Amino acid sequence: MNIKEIVSREIKIEGMEKSDVEKLLLVPPQKEMGDLSLPCFSLAKIFHKSPNDIALSLKENLNSSIISKAEVLNGYLNLFLNEKYFSKQIVEDTQNNIENYGSENIGNNKLCLIEYSSINVAKNPHVGHLCGTVYGESFCRLHEYFGYNVKRLNYLGDYGTQFGKVITAYKKYGSREKVLQRGVDELQDLYIRINAECENDEELLNECRECFLKLEKGDKEIKELYDWFKEISIEEAKRIYAELDINFDDWRGESYYAQFNKETLQTLKDKGLAIRDKGALLVDLSEYNLGKLIVEQTSGASIYATRDLSSLVHRYQEYKYDKLVYVTGVEQEQYFNQVFQVGRLMNLPYMDNVFHFSTGRISLPTGKISSRKGAVALIRDLFKAAQDKAHAVLTEKGTNSSDISVLEKQIGIGALVFTILKSTSTKDSVFDLDKAISFDGETGPYLQYTYARTCSILKKAEELGLKPVIDYETLPESTFSLVKLFPNFKDAIKNALSEYDPSHIARYAMNLCSEFNKLYSEIKILSDDKVQSQNLLTLTTLTNALLKKCLYFLVMKAPERM
Ligand code: ARG
Repeated sequence: MNIKEIVSREIKIEGMEKSDVEKLLLVPPQKEMGDLSLPCFSLAKIFHKSPNDIALSLKENLNSSIISKAEVLNGYLNLFLNEKYFSKQIVEDTQNNIENYGSENIGNNKLCLIEYSSINVAKNPHVGHLCGTVYGESFCRLHEYFGYNVKRLNYLGDYGTQFGKVITAYKKYGSREKVLQRGVDELQDLYIRINAECENDEELLNECRECFLKLEKGDKEIKELYDWFKEISIEEAKRIYAELDINFDDWRGESYYAQFNKETLQTLKDKGLAIRDKGALLVDLSEYNLGKLIVEQTSGASIYATRDLSSLVHRYQEYKYDKLVYVTGVEQEQYFNQVFQVGRLMNLPYMDNVFHFSTGRISLPTGKISSRKGAVALIRDLFKAAQDKAHAVLTEKGTNSSDISVLEKQIGIGALVFTILKSTSTKDSVFDLDKAISFDGETGPYLQYTYARTCSILKKAEELGLKPVIDYETLPESTFSLVKLFPNFKDAIKNALSEYDPSHIARYAMNLCSEFNKLYSEIKILSDDKVQSQNLLTLTTLTNALLKKCLYFLVMKAPERM
């Protein structure tokens, strides 16, 4: 069932197919503007009349029992639907298809690789990584829902002289116990210490470089330490991913792809793309307004860009994917434009299927959560602060949950994730703990709370032996504003997919929650009136299922009790 299609059959426009009318119909931003609206601006050119006059004549010719009212406003024909008729259509359609509601087989099982989160070994993941992590995961879930076969890639930052430094530092002043005890914190401190010392100590710096060369050549002892550090870093990151239910399929990062650098550089030279400039090897992209991309340092050491070019080529050879999406912070956007341009100059035939997506940045109101030494906030610290705040709010409000320590995490972290995904991706957002972890307003907890409310109604109904059966004759009129929202779920997820913008789902979920809560405050859902209770139970069941899906696409947990 498609409301726009049904309505398009009722509007007759000379020389126009129903399917074209359907494409024009849109859901107006405000209720007062009707349930569907037909903008007449594009028709003005065809009929040589003003949009308003066209809307007026369409209104005059409208004679349909399923449209109860039409109004003309600023070139739009606003349509109000026959509530009884559409309630039945919508509820039946939603009930019958709830499992895969709104899903379409767009992907046709094609392989889509999404690279996101991409943390660095021996460093704590910070708030920048969190944005990419939640956007990337949301994209994965959406692509899967629309029929793609998705692989989740975490391209580890695990290559470079800094690992020579960490290992040298460990050998000089580290201890096994301390690393076991403090994990990545210890590795990071070791790095900071030796890095400062290297600034005034050329000999030490050379020792670190030497150490890294040995690692590359496969020195057993050094390789063992490196693998251990890598394992510790991944373990720590997995604790964060566990809170978000994220599982990566492929963890190969820079060090894996570095092995193909020689080949990559050779290709660049053979194709006449790379030129020597003051000792360094670079690709000149100034004709594309993209400056110069260095691919080999004067010292002969390889760099970040080379490894990305190598992975670009090798990932395709290995996966033969249909689509590859990179998700990173906006500060790498220009860099990816450069890498992709080099890919096109290399004539890689799959460059039209490679995309880069930039996330906005999230900032914290000053003074609230700063991490050690004034550096960027770490995900771990943010999670903890959010959890503590959620704990305080829950204790104050009182909770029905039997396990507050689980719930406070779900709510605190969920609030954080919601703050990131609710604003249009490229915009920067502020994470204000007090605002984000509140049960009022456009917040994650409000969404989770409404979901939990529907769960408790369903549970109670089950105890009372009520079934979600609906009687359209007695369905109260005031339910229509909720019912009408059900099919908008389809637009929300489809737009989120095609525009890479989960904020469509966040906004949709907020509307659905507020309509449901309005109904909840107006009518007693489970009462002595069995027919009425079962009617409202049906709508609660569907709201519950849709909210659960929204939470899933927004990478949030769905607590059943709060
Ligand atoms: N590890 C990098 C960082 O933390 C992000 C990697 C992005 N992906 C890539 N293919 N370069 O900044």
